[in-house]
Formats: sequence, structure tokens, C-alpha cells
Amino acid sequence: MKIGVLGAGSMGSGIAQVAATAGHDVILVDSKEAALENAKKSLSKVMDRLVEKGKYTPEESSTLQNRISYCADLQHFSGCGMVIEAIIENLDIKKSVFKNLEEITGKECILATNTSSLSVAAIASACEYSERVIGIHFFNPAPLMPLVEIVPCIQTSETVTSTSRALIDSWGKVTVLAKDTPGFIVNRVARPFYGEALRIYEEGIADFATIDWAMTQIGGFRMGPFTLMDFIGNDINYTVTETVFEAFYYDPRYKPSFTQRRHAEAGWLGRKSGRGYYNYAEGATQPTPKEDEKLGKEIMLRILMMLINEAADALFLNIASKEDIDLAMTKGVNYPKGLLKWADELGIQHVVNYLDAMYNEYREDRYRCSPLLRRMAAGNQRFY
Ligand SMILES: NC(=O)c1ccc[n+]([C@@H]2O[C@H](COP(=O)([O-])OP(=O)(O)OC[C@H]3O[C@@H](n4cnc5c(N)ncnc54)[C@H](O)[C@@H]3O)[C@@H](O)[C@H]2O)c1
Repeated sequence: MKIGVLGAGSMGSGIAQVAATAGHDVILVDSKEAALENAKKSLSKVMDRLVEKGKYTPEESSTLQNRISYCADLQHFSGCGMVIEAIIENLDIKKSVFKNLEEITGKECILATNTSSLSVAAIASACEYSERVIGIHFFNPAPLMPLVEIVPCIQTSETVTSTSRALIDSWGKVTVLAKDTPGFIVNRVARPFYGEALRIYEEGIADFATIDWAMTQIGGFRMGPFTLMDFIGNDINYTVTETVFEAFYYDPRYKPSFTQRRHAEAGWLGRKSGRGYYNYAEGATQPTPKEDEKLGKEIMLRILMMLINEAADALFLNIASKEDIDLAMTKGVNYPKGLLKWADELGIQHVVNYLDAMYNEYREDRYRCSPLLRRMAAGNQRFY
């Protein structure tokens, strides 16, 4: 099957590489010539490194690279079985592009969007045959991150969903099925990893380095929240938070933070701007964490309890299955354990007591316990 990828930026070029690696002929289209050139050059660099490492022979590398055609014209998608769109995150532009795609491709061609935060149903509404539109959400960098969220919208046919999932599975990815709701699974359930860390800082409980130390050294997370936000970029992470907050009709659980907003406004975006929560200038001294075990455990537990509550609520609202929620967080953002499995280990009643104590202290809706956890605790149940 010929695969089309629209948008040759960070995501589109990675997705094209994944599809070509799986043996497909790929048409990669971008309106900017420079983006196409960059994509081609960076793939060639990546493949050279993989040849050096002995993962590919030079012949295999050039066969793989030759499978990708770089073009500026959408018309080249005409014979594709699937087109994955990865252009700018703007609903009006995506809708007009999907309308064009429908005119160019055959009726059987699946039209997928890699959107992170827009409604798949709204994008699909631009098409007459909207049953063939689906969300296929890769993580960055697509060739390295195993997780892909498959997001059928209310218009998507069951065949399109199962065909898409089977295809992406055959590319060696781990797929999870998510409802077309803001943030799907990962970008919804992960909110407290940033939000609660920022809140702990704002309350003056600990500084960035100490919170990061607690989450990595005590929690076993691969990166602390502030290191991770600096990595993602405070502008991007703030925008995602704000979008999710608005999309959930201002549910206080997703409230963005002034600390992050000010960092973004100051241009302290993180690694890419040389300064974020940390200073990345050469020779800059890094703050040392206060390695206090008791404090570290309190910080870690507070963030973890909020993450568990979010995961439980996603299950409560049928956003995905419990297995897929746990898989999404371990394979999409490298959490050391599935959050629902973690809840079982801590004891559901303990989680409920913790959240209730937070709620009673703060009287903020942000700390309300998911009804599912409460029900499970009353029935002495476990997730697994
Ligand atoms: N960057 C991430 O971490 C990430 C992760 C998952 C999903 N996404 C989603 O993937 C999509 C792309 O993100 P990105 O980070 O790769 O963006 P990017 O800015 O790196 O790349 C977008 C590319 O699309 C091209 N483009 C824009 N409008 C176009 C049009 N009308 N026709 C053809 N080409 C067009 C641009 O020239 C650019 O090369 C967005 O929807 C984003 O939300 C991003």
C-alpha cells in the first residue's frame, strides 16, 4: 500500500520514516520546499548513523530512503491507501486540507490526522465521506516512540478503525484506542505531572531541582517535570495546557499555571532558548536539590496521586480501556509503571483517603476524587 504523509516537519518526516521502514512506498508532501529538503537531509543523516551502528547495510539504507518521494503537490496522493496529515495545528487549515484530500484520493483511502489537540470529528466534518477519517496520533520522535493513539471520531466506520489499527500495529508500534476527547489519553492523563509540580513549587514547598529529584530518584520517572517541560518547551507545554483547560470547559483540574505562563512570556522556553526553569548556557551552575527523603516522598506521592486520579477518571468516562490507559503512559511517556497498576499496589482506599484529605484541606475542585475510585474502595476492588 502506498502511504501519503502531508507535512514534512518534525512529525511528518518521522512518520514517513516509520512507514518506509515498514516497507511502504511513501509520498511526503509539504508546501515548503525547504521543509522537504530538511526532511530528506535529516533522514539521510539518521540512516548514515544506523549504517555505522551496523543496523542497516548501505544497500538497505538506500532502498529505504528511495521509498520516499518528496513532492510539493497534493495530487501525488492520488494512489495512496492512507494519507496521514501532520501539518500546522489549526482547525480551519486542516479542514480545508481534508476537503482537498477527499477530492484527490479514492473513496477507499483512509484519511488520518496526527493532531494532538483538535477534535477529530471537527476535522472529519470537512469531508463528504467522513467515515474514512480517523486520528492516528504519533509521539515525538515518531521513529523512536513506540506508542500510537488510534482515535476514531463519531463519524469513523468500524472498518476504518480496525484497518488503521492493524496497519499501525504491523509497523511495530504499540497502539491504544482512545475516544475523541481533548488530549486523548496521554495528553490528558499526564496533565498533573506538570500542573501539580508547578503548584508544589508555587506553594513554596520545594524548588524545581528538588521536585525533579523527587520524581526521578524516588518516583523512578525518567525525567523530572521541570526538566521535561524545558525539553518540550514552555510555550508549547503551556499552550497544550491552556487548550485542554478550555476544551474541558474550564475544569479546575486542568488549570494552567502563572509560573509557566511567565516563563513562556519571558522567552524562557527551555533548552531551545538556552534558558527555562534551568539555565542551559555553557558553564552555568545547576541548582542542587534538597535531598530530603521525607520531603521527596511527599512531593512524589502528591503528584502520583493526582496522576492516578486522572487515569481513573479517564477509565470512568470510557476514554479508553484500563489496559490501554496503562500502556499509553508507559509507552508514550515512559512512566515506570501503569498508573492503575500503581493504584492497586498503593491500595485504592489509600488513594481515596489521600485525595479526600487534599480536598478537605484545599476545598478546591481540583482535588476531587474520581467516583470510580470511591466506588472501587467501597467494594474493596482492584483494577487488576
Ligand atoms: N511536535 C510534536 O511533539 C507533536 C506530537 C504529536 C503530534 N503533533 C501534531 O503533528 C502536527 C505537526 O506537528 P509538527 O510538530 O510536525 O509541526 P512542524 O511545524 O514541525 O511541521 C509542520 C509542517 O507542515 C507544513 N505545512 C503547514 N501547512 C501546510 C499545508 N497547508 N500544506 C502542506 N504543508 C503544510 C509546514 O511547512 C511544516 O513543514 C500538528 O498537528 C501537531 O499538533 C506534534
